[in-house]
Amino acid sequence: MSTTAETYKAYINGEFVDSGSGKTFPTYDPGNGQVIGHLPECDEEDVDRAVRAALAAFPAWRKRSGSARGKLLLKLAQLVEANAGKLAELESRNAGKPISASKKIDAVTAIDALEYFAGMANKIQGETIPVPGPYINMTLREPLGVIAGIIPWNYPLLQAIWKISPAIAAGNTVVIKPAEQACLSVMYLARLVAEAGIPPGVVNVVPGFGETTGAALVDHHMVAKVMFTGSTSTGKIIAGAAAKTLKPVGLELGGKTAVVVYEDAPIDQAADVAAMAIFTNQGQNCTAGSRLFLHQSVHDKVLEKVIAAAKKQKLGYQMDPATTLGPVVSAEQKKMIDGYVASGKAEAKVAYEGQAPSDASCAGGHYVPVTVFDAVQNSMKIAREEIFGPVLSVLTFKDEAEALALANDSPYGLAATVITRDIGKALRAVQAFEAGNVWVNTWGAVSSMAPYGGYKSSGYGREMGFAVMREVTQEKNVWLNLR
Ligand code: NAI
Ligand code: MG
Repeated sequence: MSTTAETYKAYINGEFVDSGSGKTFPTYDPGNGQVIGHLPECDEEDVDRAVRAALAAFPAWRKRSGSARGKLLLKLAQLVEANAGKLAELESRNAGKPISASKKIDAVTAIDALEYFAGMANKIQGETIPVPGPYINMTLREPLGVIAGIIPWNYPLLQAIWKISPAIAAGNTVVIKPAEQACLSVMYLARLVAEAGIPPGVVNVVPGFGETTGAALVDHHMVAKVMFTGSTSTGKIIAGAAAKTLKPVGLELGGKTAVVVYEDAPIDQAADVAAMAIFTNQGQNCTAGSRLFLHQSVHDKVLEKVIAAAKKQKLGYQMDPATTLGPVVSAEQKKMIDGYVASGKAEAKVAYEGQAPSDASCAGGHYVPVTVFDAVQNSMKIAREEIFGPVLSVLTFKDEAEALALANDSPYGLAATVITRDIGKALRAVQAFEAGNVWVNTWGAVSSMAPYGGYKSSGYGREMGFAVMREVTQEKNVWLNLR
């Protein structure tokens, strides 16, 4: 397999090119460890070429009408739709996502985002302000220039589109640095960008490693802003590095989502939501519901059903349509998750532990069985740190005040869920949660139309909705003297 693996090219200034050094690095199928592609390892010079191409393309791109930019985004949406099967296959094969999920979620959400921002492109406008005196005061919303999008491996296609579509809709140009672990869908997307007729330089894709390719992009003085999704530790490094050139950054970072189940909650719904929150994408979600807070009166019943749901998960090769839990993205991630499971075993009680797959198709893959820990204390390592795997911590509480205090007792603040039929309890939780995204009686809902982002160590800035338009534009205030 490794000998037939395709060699991909970077996408710079509308051309598919090798890295200047000619260096490549392999990318794998995490389900069996086989090499499935080779990627150009872009260095500082490649990044410089991409940034300069993006800057050269900027004046003409921003000058186009919003409608004209929107039309090209719509064309890209159509091409993503026409190639959804291929994109889903690449996404699953490279990132380990179950193929059933890639087909249903990733491509569909990506198309939705492209269409939404295509429609937004001619609705970006300023305002007039009734200042006193003989003046008209108005604001202009202008693009920033070159935006760097640095993205993770858990939703490569979606993340690329969430960075590209609002930025170019607003008249910016972009350079995308996909994650080294999984980016084949993004490399394929670059071909569709070219096919859509989006002008050379407007979108560039430079694969490579974080500390080199990513850092070169953050340091580059011609990059106007960095939009990053990934770990909190890398977010801090990027914000620090960007300060040297005074670049604004948008950071969508890690999380430790609390799922709070009150005593009146419908048991089946609570268990379904809790299971979905931790098992989706093998728990490799920034919003993964990794802390399940159960009222002591419903603890046993909900836990029993969550375990039943865990037992129903089919851990296996991600291209098998029956698989619900695929491998995690890399041996490194598996090792990290295994470390947390060992730490949980030393501190808490194992309520359920799944089994590694024995199927021959899974040999050489990075499979992590489900673990459900009970009797977890919020101070334990497994309750404080982002695990990014199918590892659930179950905690109990006796009343509302305790539940909300525990839910908020976390460095993270990306998301929180409450499950109850009591409107007062629901709304008090909505108000109290220190989190950028709050779900009532569900988990994980996202839409291109709704702002998405974190509180506390989960980052700052917002993606999607009109909110992201404020992130990818700057406001100019203008005074007109009427005398
Ligand atoms: P990471 O945050 O280091 O990587 C994300 C992206 O940042 C990748 O494209 C990477 O190449 C780039 N990057 C890394 N260091 C950089 C630097 N110094 N300058 C510029 N770019 C840089 O995440 P990693 O190491 O892959 O995963 C480690 C942990 O991070 C996971 O176990 C998980 O807890 C968390 N994570 C959270 C994500 C989220 O969606 N919130 C996504 C991915 C990882
Ligand atoms: Mg890292």
